[in-house]
Amino acid sequence: MKISNDLPKKNPLKSIEDWEKDLLKRYPDPNNNDKSKEEYRNYNDGSRQDTVKEFYKLNHQYQTYDFVVKKEEEFLQFDKKEMDFWEAVDFLNTLVDDSDPDTDLDQLQHLLQTSEAIRADGHPDWFVLTGFIHDFGKVLCLFGEPQWAVVGDTFPVGCQFSDKIVFPEFFDLNPDQQNPELNTKYGIYSPNCGLDNVKMSWGHDEYLYQMVKDHLPEQALYMIRYHSFYAQHKENAYDHLMSGHDKKMFEWVNKFNPYDLYSKVPTPPDAKALRPYYEDLVAKYLPNTLKF
Ligand SMILES: [Fe+2]
Ligand SMILES: [Fe+2]
Repeated sequence: MKISNDLPKKNPLKSIEDWEKDLLKRYPDPNNNDKSKEEYRNYNDGSRQDTVKEFYKLNHQYQTYDFVVKKEEEFLQFDKKEMDFWEAVDFLNTLVDDSDPDTDLDQLQHLLQTSEAIRADGHPDWFVLTGFIHDFGKVLCLFGEPQWAVVGDTFPVGCQFSDKIVFPEFFDLNPDQQNPELNTKYGIYSPNCGLDNVKMSWGHDEYLYQMVKDHLPEQALYMIRYHSFYAQHKENAYDHLMSGHDKKMFEWVNKFNPYDLYSKVPTPPDAKALRPYYEDLVAKYLPNTLKF
């Protein structure tokens, strides 16, 4: 397995979940004031805020157009590892950080909470499956990738960085911001060219999309590919690159987002009891072996 030795290895977050906890502060659950206040209280420890800020500094500094091209070449060969689905679940679940007392749920539990909330609302089975697999791309961390190249808000590269992206001031450190070909409103793109023609910053979203793109309905693929694109699905900062079709499909991304952010319940799901249901669901849509 190839590990990029030429990149800074600094992983400021104690746990990659700290990024998602920070999202809850930025976008508290509008339907649950008590819970939001509770979550908010938990952030008032300055140390997490500092590490999240440091994480975004690295992310914004190093996610250049060329970096994304390089990571696509490296990872979209899918020649790192072959696993059957449940092996991959176990592998992903090794991604825990016991040193963080606030990380109470493992990866499988986050996935099951998301998918079970979707199932409880009566959505189609492919939507449930999408919830169940949406963060599988985080295995990138286990291939030695730095946190800032796996998680964090995603955004287009190859054109101006929007000031609606969290911590926009850190883009001053990104060389693309000084490149006249890449720093204009449209950069290398044309008005409403459609997101399929736009390169996004590299991370777990694009990686999983590329892995499963032949197996799920288009709505599911939009949810997977753009679930961390907060600058668009929460802030509409990139309407000028979206096609009419993207805008329609983003209704599904918006439908998915609350399940990702707000589905945490006090009792962890019973993974063992739920397994037969998910075995059938996975078998219906996905190949036996997944290539990472
Ligand atoms: Fe995610
Ligand atoms: Fe998630």
